Amino acid sequence: MDHFALVDGELHCEAVPLSRIAAEVGTPVYVYSANALRTQARRFRDGLKGAGRVHLAYAIKANPNIAVLNVLAREGYGADVVSGGEMARALAAGMPAADIVFSGVGKTRAELSRGIGAEIGQFNIELEEEGVVLAQLAAAQGKTARAVLRVNPDVDAGTHAKISTGKSENKFGVPIAEAADIFGRLAGLNGLNLRGVAIHIGSQLLDLGPLEAAYSRIGAFVSELRARGHTITHVDLGGGLGVNYKAGDVPPDPADFGAMVARVTKDWDVTLMFEPGRVITGNAGVLLTEVIWVKPGVTSPYVIVDAAMNDLARPALYDAWHDFEAVRPSGECMVANIAGPVCETGDTFARDREIDVVKSGDLAIFRTAGAYGATMASTYNSRPLVPEVLVDGDRYAVVADRIAAETILAAERVPDWL
Ligand code: LLP
Repeated sequence: MDHFALVDGELHCEAVPLSRIAAEVGTPVYVYSANALRTQARRFRDGLKGAGRVHLAYAIKANPNIAVLNVLAREGYGADVVSGGEMARALAAGMPAADIVFSGVGKTRAELSRGIGAEIGQFNIELEEEGVVLAQLAAAQGKTARAVLRVNPDVDAGTHAKISTGKSENKFGVPIAEAADIFGRLAGLNGLNLRGVAIHIGSQLLDLGPLEAAYSRIGAFVSELRARGHTITHVDLGGGLGVNYKAGDVPPDPADFGAMVARVTKDWDVTLMFEPGRVITGNAGVLLTEVIWVKPGVTSPYVIVDAAMNDLARPALYDAWHDFEAVRPSGECMVANIAGPVCETGDTFARDREIDVVKSGDLAIFRTAGAYGATMASTYNSRPLVPEVLVDGDRYAVVADRIAAETILAAERVPDWL
């Protein structure tokens, strides 16, 4: 079911008309559907029913809003975090420390120490030296850090280069050829319980093939580690499942993903860990915006909306496609460019695209903005930080305020010696 659908000719989020949110909160604003989050969280979990022992750590980088985390915590999800800030959010949302996985290629010593102190569930080690330091820091606190070693399987995920992570030239993980020796050197360290391995080959994957190839390599690697006498109890298979951004995208069904996982991992006898991000939140959110002007253009007119690249960076960063729909579509179409107010040509959401006819003052949405949307927003051009709303049935709440440009200005100062 689509939780953003037309009711009496007007787009609603669940039972709340988007025009009401626009009137009461203003635009631009991100709108999330709690029931879409729950539905996806359950679909992903149900897909893995045949895969044995499973631990789900939602990759909170996709959407770290504390209300979103709260919904997912109630669905039994832990968190995959990549910074001290994300760790603090996961804990604040009520996720048990033991259910938190700390990933990230540049965890600082201070962040590692904080994680050890909070007794978070697992550290995903990215390089040998990090493992050594983690062990020392844990031993100094009289603790043992549970950890896995992230391996770079050298698999091409077949996605956008900027979000591919599993090729040997990428910065992530240790090379698979050296991983067994590194594992061997770290495994005996005081303060460290090195219990398995992790991989994550990329994001927005629309094909299960590269994932299966990577998982198979990791399966062989687990056998090699066991042959060397190591005890392997956990394998973290990362995230990466894609979602549909436009007609023609056919993302893997979580059930098919789960069946593939069950088949590839059936003899592993480990707890499988997953770090899904986009697949949980991507289609649970839209960016609601108002058309400021429709400006004549050389080929097509420019629809200038009040959302910009600072609010939704994906089109500017990755040439990403986000469907654009009028909140009250007339049924007529036009071909237009869609752009924001920021002073860069890159602040363009779509070119020569067939869209609903819109005019100045009309409301519209960018779809599939629930993942890597608000969290990547900035205040570029001294624009306010975009707010977020969560809808649940016929209720809604502002779950992140619009941060006014004046508030941001108030945190700056001119030194008195100037
Ligand atoms: N685990 C690790 C170690 C990751 O690096 C990521 C994403 C995930 C899990 C979650 O991946 P997902 O299930 O969401 O694909 N800003 C980009 C996406 C960057 C993804 C980075 N890592 C975008 O807007 O497309």
